[in-house]
Amino acid sequence: MSLDELRPLQIRRLRNTLRQAYEGQAPYRAKCQAAGVHPDDFRELKDLARFPFTSKEDLRDAYPFGMLAIPREQCVRLHASSGTTGRPTVVGYSAGDIDTWSDLMARSLHAGGARPGDIIHNAFGYGLFTGGLGAHYGAERLGCTVVPMSGGFGERQVQLIREFGARVVLMTPSYMLAVADEFERQGIDPRSTAMRVGLFGAEPWTEGMRAEIERRLGVDAVDLYGLSEVMGPGVACEFIETKDGPTIWEDHFYPEIVDPETGTPVADGEPGELVFTTLTKEAMPVIRYRTRDLTRLMPGSASVMRRMAKITGRSDDMLIVRGVNLFPSQVEEQILRDPALSGHYVIELTRTGALDDLLVRVEARAVLDGDATGRSAAELARRLKGMCGLSATVDVAAPGTIERSLGKARRVIDRRPKD
Ligand code: DLL
Repeated sequence: MSLDELRPLQIRRLRNTLRQAYEGQAPYRAKCQAAGVHPDDFRELKDLARFPFTSKEDLRDAYPFGMLAIPREQCVRLHASSGTTGRPTVVGYSAGDIDTWSDLMARSLHAGGARPGDIIHNAFGYGLFTGGLGAHYGAERLGCTVVPMSGGFGERQVQLIREFGARVVLMTPSYMLAVADEFERQGIDPRSTAMRVGLFGAEPWTEGMRAEIERRLGVDAVDLYGLSEVMGPGVACEFIETKDGPTIWEDHFYPEIVDPETGTPVADGEPGELVFTTLTKEAMPVIRYRTRDLTRLMPGSASVMRRMAKITGRSDDMLIVRGVNLFPSQVEEQILRDPALSGHYVIELTRTGALDDLLVRVEARAVLDGDATGRSAAELARRLKGMCGLSATVDVAAPGTIERSLGKARRVIDRRPKD
């Protein structure tokens, strides 16, 4: 599809979606009325900026089914986000939505390097989380043989990847490192297996982490992006040939970048918060959903559709330590510059008196002697200081001592008193 075909298609689909949301979703209609806009006011793409945003709170307030634009009986599936605080957010899907999702996830897998006939080892969690089932249906749609492994059972992950001969694996990047450790523990070289491609996502990861995964496992590591409120995995995916940021499937999701403080749209190329409007969803369209993911839009490379820069942080992941803004991914980038340190790390924040203390605990790749440990710790502290001006205490821990997650890694433990 050329841009000359894509833009009119987006306008047509946006017009429909705005109407559907206005008619079917009472909470969104109320927001439009309060803002004095009506779907008829939408004529060209720039008119979208006149419409109100949808936030995670809007979805929570409508818990459980208040945002459905179709009768609940016509939903064939529900997913829900984990909801670390309070109520989860619920998403509903019509049969048509599941069909579209399968197509887009199949498209993502193909862009990422999977081909019909491949064995796909799917270690995204099955259940309310969209990762497992979303990727599963896409892999079936592409004509692959799916192993619905889900997360956990480290030993069996290795066993089945090997014995079934998966060429493609799907999981979070942090879990891939845990599985890499398990390969090592069993004395098996991952390169001796059929595994060649991994699609990783559901959490921020850096280029350093990509290099680490590719080096340790001998796979191409491709970035897969999505979020449940908008659909699930498969909203955007990198092409294996370019690995230059996920291409957004713009024929189904219209992206904007806005200033996270003011909500004003910024030009392509400028950094800000990613906002999505769904173009084809039936059960639960979302208009201008604030993802809180920080990135920028870039021109298409492997396709005419635009790309997003690799997401390295969410506005709600940003730590403020002694007045300095810090993202866990910035710490990750510094850690992975040292070949003696692994990607298993956790950032702990405490407070002594009025002062925040920053502790970075990171596992060494191998058992190090005291001198080497001290050198790595001092070097990392120096690099962190140079990067953000903060003095951190660095604890280089022995391999296997930092807690592993089966899905999204928990990178921050904030023990500071809430003020
Ligand atoms: O994590 C869906 C998903 C599953 C995507 C499997 C990719 C693979 P949620 O649980 O709703 O959905 O979390 C969505 O996770 O807003 C981002 O902050 C983060 N995220 C997802 N993919 C990436 C990625 C799934 N590739 C939230 N890079 C999003 C960075 C990601 N962050």
